[in-house]
Amino acid sequence: MNITLEQPVHAAAIEKLLDNSFGPKRHTKTVYRLRKNVAPVADLCFVATDTDEDGNEVLVGTIRYWPVMLGGNVQAIMLGPIAIAENLRSGGIGGKLIRHSLEAAKALGHRVVILVGDAPYYVRFGFNREVVAGLSLPGPVDPARFQGLELVDGALSGVTGMVGRAAPPKTRTATPGLRPVAKVTTLPLFAAVMDASAVEAGTELPVSRRRPRRAAR
Ligand SMILES: CC(C)(COP(=O)(O)OP(=O)(O)OC[C@H]1O[C@@H](n2cnc3c(N)ncnc32)[C@H](O)[C@@H]1OP(=O)(O)O)[C@@H](O)C(=O)NCCC(=O)NCCS
Repeated sequence: MNITLEQPVHAAAIEKLLDNSFGPKRHTKTVYRLRKNVAPVADLCFVATDTDEDGNEVLVGTIRYWPVMLGGNVQAIMLGPIAIAENLRSGGIGGKLIRHSLEAAKALGHRVVILVGDAPYYVRFGFNREVVAGLSLPGPVDPARFQGLELVDGALSGVTGMVGRAAPPKTRTATPGLRPVAKVTTLPLFAAVMDASAVEAGTELPVSRRRPRRAAR
């Protein structure tokens, strides 16, 4: 199993895996309001891939992060969605993707991660409800599922207010006739973000259905 940064070629397989995992109505969830028209943090969007019996690369997992703003002035990143191919769940891939991406986030200087998800799963990575007690989300969410993680001790202390969308990235250069695949934002922590349209693009890579030849962990 390899963990690498997501590329446009993975996009179609990721969409399929997310639809299979969360259903086609996933876009109506509150967290999608925070992702609307905002590109994911490209440096933190990873895929787990493996090789099937025919030697083809298959997608076995995806994790993405989006930039968000807390209380109007504190930058943070939001973990999710994360999904692992159904036939490979509980094999450690999800944990590896989360730990790998959190280490990358820390190395890149991010200070705060939030998410909406199953608390019994995320507690093992250090996420907890207490650090986001002063924050609200812009839509209905079960409060028990809203959690945060301080990558820098105390980074969430005293932070209150609404979780909002980060400003859409500004393109630094634009070549007429060419669609940019990467944009540079004015916010240094989000210096490498994906063009949201690139996420939709890409050729098809299959999602794993069979057990890969090599062990997944
Ligand atoms: C949730 C998910 C990403 C975890 O990835 P994974 O590779 O299956 O998980 P890991 O192998 O790292 O960890 C397995 C452990 O997590 C537990 N676990 C998995 N999903 C869980 C959940 N939703 N809630 C609580 N515990 C969970 C398993 O019971 C197992 O526990 P154990 O180690 O005590 O046996 C994966 O199961 C998945 O894609 N689920 C469907 C999509 C989804 O629900 N994603 C987001 C969840 S908020």
